[in-house]
Amino acid sequence: MFNIFKISLVLLLVFSIFILNEERALAEAQLTDEESIDRVVAEMSLEEKVSILVGPGMSGESLVGLTDAGVPGAAGNINGVPRFGIPAIVLADGPAGLRINSTREGTEETFYATAFPVATAIASSWNTDLAKEVGDAVGEEIKEYGVDIWLAPALNIHRNPLTGRNFEYYSEDPLISGKMAAAVVNGVEDNGVGTTIKHFVANNQETNRLSVDAIISQRALREIYLRGFEIAVKDAQPWSVMSSYNRLNGSYTSANQELLTTILRDEWGFKGFVMTDWFGGYESLKVIFEEGNSVSDVVAQMQAGNDLLMPGTPNQTQALIDAVKSGKLDEKILDKNLKNILKMVLQTPRFKEYRYSNKPKLKTNAEISRQVATEGMVLLKNKQKVLPLNSDAKIGLFGNGQIETIKGGTGSGDVNTAYTISIAKGLDENFELDQDLLARYATYVSTLRGLKEYQKPPHSFFEQKPQIPEKPLRDNEISAVVEKTDIGVIVIVRNSGEGGDRKNEKGDFLLTDEEQKMIERVSNAYHKVGKQVVVVLNIGGVIEVASWRDKVDGILLSWQPGQEAGYAIADVLSGRANPSGKLATTFPMDYGDVPSAANFPGDDPVDPSKVVYEEGIYVGYRYYDKFDIKPAYEFGYGLSYTSFEYSNLKLNSNIFKDKIRVTVDITNTGKVAGKEVVELYLNAPANKLDKPIQELKGFAKTKLLQPAETQTISFEIDARTLASFDENKSAWLAEAGKYELRVGASSRDIRRRAFFKLKKDLIVEEVNDLLEPTN
Ligand code: BGC
Repeated sequence: MFNIFKISLVLLLVFSIFILNEERALAEAQLTDEESIDRVVAEMSLEEKVSILVGPGMSGESLVGLTDAGVPGAAGNINGVPRFGIPAIVLADGPAGLRINSTREGTEETFYATAFPVATAIASSWNTDLAKEVGDAVGEEIKEYGVDIWLAPALNIHRNPLTGRNFEYYSEDPLISGKMAAAVVNGVEDNGVGTTIKHFVANNQETNRLSVDAIISQRALREIYLRGFEIAVKDAQPWSVMSSYNRLNGSYTSANQELLTTILRDEWGFKGFVMTDWFGGYESLKVIFEEGNSVSDVVAQMQAGNDLLMPGTPNQTQALIDAVKSGKLDEKILDKNLKNILKMVLQTPRFKEYRYSNKPKLKTNAEISRQVATEGMVLLKNKQKVLPLNSDAKIGLFGNGQIETIKGGTGSGDVNTAYTISIAKGLDENFELDQDLLARYATYVSTLRGLKEYQKPPHSFFEQKPQIPEKPLRDNEISAVVEKTDIGVIVIVRNSGEGGDRKNEKGDFLLTDEEQKMIERVSNAYHKVGKQVVVVLNIGGVIEVASWRDKVDGILLSWQPGQEAGYAIADVLSGRANPSGKLATTFPMDYGDVPSAANFPGDDPVDPSKVVYEEGIYVGYRYYDKFDIKPAYEFGYGLSYTSFEYSNLKLNSNIFKDKIRVTVDITNTGKVAGKEVVELYLNAPANKLDKPIQELKGFAKTKLLQPAETQTISFEIDARTLASFDENKSAWLAEAGKYELRVGASSRDIRRRAFFKLKKDLIVEEVNDLLEPTN
């Protein structure tokens, strides 16, 4: 009797679950368009809402609603809710390309992506059209590999040259950062897939990135650190923004309503959704993985307008449900955040049931990567026109980096490519390399890499492969090569990446003793017989150059130029491509000259809890100019194989009303075709506000100008361009007085000047008085 009772109870239970499921399958509202969102959200259970607002975890173990097999190696997902027709969507990393796994279990097929030059290299092209082209190419790969939203571009400011992720970022200047990011966003999103601009904001170091408190003045925030994001949001409306890990003036950015709602949405008009960085808002990864019971402040994050918690933990899910049930969090806030996400889900290829091919145009994209790489390279030195080299030049190629060429930095910004063209290969196919030396380097590098101590730490995503010591060179080995070749080329490499900052030490910011000796001995030997030497810098961030640059004749800064590295470097060395890159970040004479040297990475060199941005707005060239410190290579600097003349600078008015139009003629006065980066700086009157000597207010790149060809470049100056941020008034203020426009080939090579007047002080825009430092 009792058993029959039990059985019928079980049957009843099974039956009611069945009914419930049927009901779920038959949800009345379906996600179809923007108008349907309100109905869908109104019908959703609290648990369903939270399942979207909190990601399915690192391994995606609780992933619901993926309509296909997914994309291995993608960084994360947003859950779907199938009964409302909401698909799960796929998010994958960048910014140097699309980061997914290149191989998959159960298939021989490969899924390689193209590695483009790192962001710093792209910025050095100063070519926003090219940046858009990169975006377009990456967007095609994103779409064809079944990814919906790219977790890039990244545009934190190069506050300090030692920041481990600088290679992922564009510049020390917010205008370049913002314009480059906007161009990339537009290029990617033209494909119908999304982007995420990151890390919002002030993630300018890796040391203690999860919790360090960046203390920044309101003015520095508005003019330097927020400005690039403002430009990117206003110019390109990315689908999403990733809040950063760090604290800002006391609170986590992911829990900061002033930042994520008042500034981002109300002031700038952002229309997409905000996600955390992975585990953003947790004090340390230890509390997630080892202690397991801790949780970020989900209530504050949701209230702040951080719509999505990534990659999501079960604790966060529970905490959100509890917070609503206990009345600590108004469910309406969840609804608002959810709607922000759903609006973007509607745009995704997965929602539109796009049938991706897994066959992007890798060949075409490799060509784009190569072209962009050449345009981002900066010719730092070219004594007696040592470059370009003749195609029949016999080269002695020195340095381990010829074999271990670096396409891009490590961490989530790394791309799984089919290959990287080494400098040795690129040069070998384009010039005559000394084959004995080449073979000796190949053997040396592979032998050392075979040793246990030089292998990559097995389980660490963040740790670098240890650099192997430079191959020792015997005197007679050098002299034999010098005798057989016309020129010496020395490769210096550096790598860095997510999870760690670089160090002002030998082997990192400084050259090692072996590298110094290699430069000295190789140069002496070539110079002794009247031959020259060129250094190729295959680096992701700024290094010290002042101590060795006089010893060599040419220096080509190739940055980390992506998978076509060796070919692109050969293009520039041979003159097939005329270098037209310029520095978007300063090379100082000495690390001690760096404006943030005294307080980077914060109040403790190893374990900082706080970092005070004492230099305020004086970041990069703004500092070197103001305090009259001579850099090794200034912001905006870069040579060409040709020369350019600047003439005919004209303003359409000498009195500022609401706009001034500036035109200038650029003429190629040399013998070969080339492109010129034209930089527009402004010196503004500083009556009430202290100001930098000059600030970049516009830039343009000419087309490929043939010898004697001229192009007129134009810029527009609007009121906001004149203004500085006045903390007392919480407003952008353009001060009355005389303004000097400077058009130049670098920040210290101003070719033409013109003046105009603003008759009265102008409050260009009043904003909210927010984000005040508390200490
Ligand atoms: C990085 C982000 C990245 C995310 C997902 C984080 O560690 O800071 O830039 O998008 O991981 O991989």
